[in-house]
Amino acid sequence: MLLELSTWPEIEAYLQRDTSVLIPIGSTEQHGPTGLIGTDAICAQTLARGVGERLGVLVTPTLHIGMAQHHMAFPGTLSLRPETLLAVVRDVIESLSRHGFTHCYFINGHGGNIPVVESAFSAVYAGDPENAPRCRLANWWRLPQVAALARELYGAAEGHHATASEVALSFHTHPEAVKTAPLDPPVAPTGPIFDARDFRRRFPDGRIGSNPALARVEHGARFREVAVQAIAEDFRRFVHAP
Ligand code: NI
Repeated sequence: MLLELSTWPEIEAYLQRDTSVLIPIGSTEQHGPTGLIGTDAICAQTLARGVGERLGVLVTPTLHIGMAQHHMAFPGTLSLRPETLLAVVRDVIESLSRHGFTHCYFINGHGGNIPVVESAFSAVYAGDPENAPRCRLANWWRLPQVAALARELYGAAEGHHATASEVALSFHTHPEAVKTAPLDPPVAPTGPIFDARDFRRRFPDGRIGSNPALARVEHGARFREVAVQAIAEDFRRFVHAP
């Protein structure tokens, strides 16, 4: 059930039977010469919709723009400042809370969002210590089942940014947008992340440690199945926790 394709009476009826909700959050940022700029949002959205269908849980519109300052030296990247993203996430949670939602489960596609979203949860809890909804952040690529599949398919060439797994999942979701380009070296360098200019100097084509040429559309179907199953289990534990 998608919030954006529902009416308010349908949401009012939903709240009579369920007060949990799934919120996909991604980023709009460069993903190397072949990865789509929407990769992180595309991945979060398809997984949230998969979990929502499996469990009959409401899914909100995707938060497409995240905190991506370190990718800003590559054209096309859009970034919210950390304080802007914190405010957006807090306002979304507090909007849901006012309608009676008690469990807000974020499905995240971007590592740079993690500290900001967790900080937003703390701000929500601090702002309403008696009645704040419970919040959880699931980072799909870090799920043990997903990481194991990435190791099996790509070994160390999975990498850390513009990874083979996220490229496979986004290509599976949008096969009409599959891209190819020369990747040199095949496996990108790794190293620390500081500001945007330094990022482009260290990682000239935008990848970190990955070889996304290994990604296949059919791998994406496997990642989707494994991740939806693992997230659905985690979600059930979250909503049934005492
Ligand atoms: Ni990504």
